[in-house]
Amino acid sequence: MLEFNFKNILSSVIEENGLEESEIKSLESELVAARRKLNELRRSGEVGFYNEISNIAMVDEVKIAAERLFAKNFETLYVFGMGGSSLGAIFLKEAMCGMADHNKRSRVNVIFSENIDPVYLKNNIDSIDFKKTSFCFVSKSADTIEIVSQFFIVKEILEKTVENYKDNLIFITDKKSGFLRQYADENGIAVLDIAKNVGGRYSITTAGTLFPAYAMGLDIEKFLRGSLAYRDNILNKGVFENNPVYTMAAVIYLFYTKKNRNIFVPFVYGDYLREFSRWFRQLFAESLGKDLISPTPVPAVGATDQHSQLQLYMQGPQDKLIGFLCLKDFGWDFTVNSTGFNEFYYLNGKKLSDVLMNELKGVELALAINKRPSFRITLDKIDEFSMGELSFMCMEAVAVIGMLLKINPFDQPGVEKGKKFAYLLMGRKDDSLSKESEELKRFNAIPDMPY
Ligand code: PA5
Repeated sequence: MLEFNFKNILSSVIEENGLEESEIKSLESELVAARRKLNELRRSGEVGFYNEISNIAMVDEVKIAAERLFAKNFETLYVFGMGGSSLGAIFLKEAMCGMADHNKRSRVNVIFSENIDPVYLKNNIDSIDFKKTSFCFVSKSADTIEIVSQFFIVKEILEKTVENYKDNLIFITDKKSGFLRQYADENGIAVLDIAKNVGGRYSITTAGTLFPAYAMGLDIEKFLRGSLAYRDNILNKGVFENNPVYTMAAVIYLFYTKKNRNIFVPFVYGDYLREFSRWFRQLFAESLGKDLISPTPVPAVGATDQHSQLQLYMQGPQDKLIGFLCLKDFGWDFTVNSTGFNEFYYLNGKKLSDVLMNELKGVELALAINKRPSFRITLDKIDEFSMGELSFMCMEAVAVIGMLLKINPFDQPGVEKGKKFAYLLMGRKDDSLSKESEELKRFNAIPDMPY
């Protein structure tokens, strides 16, 4: 369950920097319109993440593919994916380490290559036995350059070291198009589909995330039940009828548009939520950062970052809204025994999680006294169900903020330009690059600045 606390955004607490409750409520018709528009996109099939969470056939395919993997006794599943095609699985892998019984679960060691740092790749390659490793390439478009280039490297080594090496490969990609799909079809490689209408950063409930998640021992049905429960709850009630995701979307939107809060800080308290905050940053930034608008997401982890950025958040520019995320139950705890150390009498008998929570509450209070807005989300615990709820809530919140900002939260036109220049620099010749080719010529004609 997710609990929200919005007290510290109110003008009754942070005076002129805060919002009146009536300002939030006055957004009701826009929120209803946003939800209606998203519902239309869902019904027309243009946006698929709402329905993918109840795609039982997809779940069955994921489980069958994973069971085949287990039957071959692979030791390692090595997953290659970028952005939305890897961050969800990385977030779930880390969150799982925050579950009390995680050590008992994994049937195969799951590792990731998210970047193309050659030394990182070499170190991973040196640490695995190719014969006992299944290589999983996740790419919705099926031709993302980082994935394809690593595929060629892995394929070359596999060809030299493993007989019938194609059995060691699995692709997760678009149903019809793209290089990996074509290669899989022509070479009999195992393949799982990603639905056409689910974009990378909304794909946490697709095979791209669920396959590695199942392999690492996660109960993927429980995860999807969490998402489904959250979806049905939000869709069947009024936007202000105990439906805090809409209040949260309204708060982020209003602080950005009316209070110059250009930076949104998702501030998680707990080490096993760090990767969640990276997943959330990508979802938020790639969905909302366009048409010259959007707050900038800057993740932080408490209590660690209290000794890092907090000074800036407390006394720097009044341009930030902070959204804390914390846990009610860690599932495990220590009790501090400070008997005999009189100056620490207040620590004696405290649970370590209480120390962490009191630090968070202290920061919240200090921010509020300094008239700086924050709100808090509390998760009852880390398990598959709560991760399903949390991730669905975030996707809905971001989609709604997109609607309020009147931008399309489901595309990413700005990412293409850099890719095109990279293709040109690598010597690709293609009519679709003619504009960038001219721009590159003009750029190269400008002399560098002497220093
Ligand atoms: O959210 C997105 O759409 C992107 O971050 C993509 O997931 C990322 O660029 C990887 O794309 P692909 O899955 O096509 O390889």
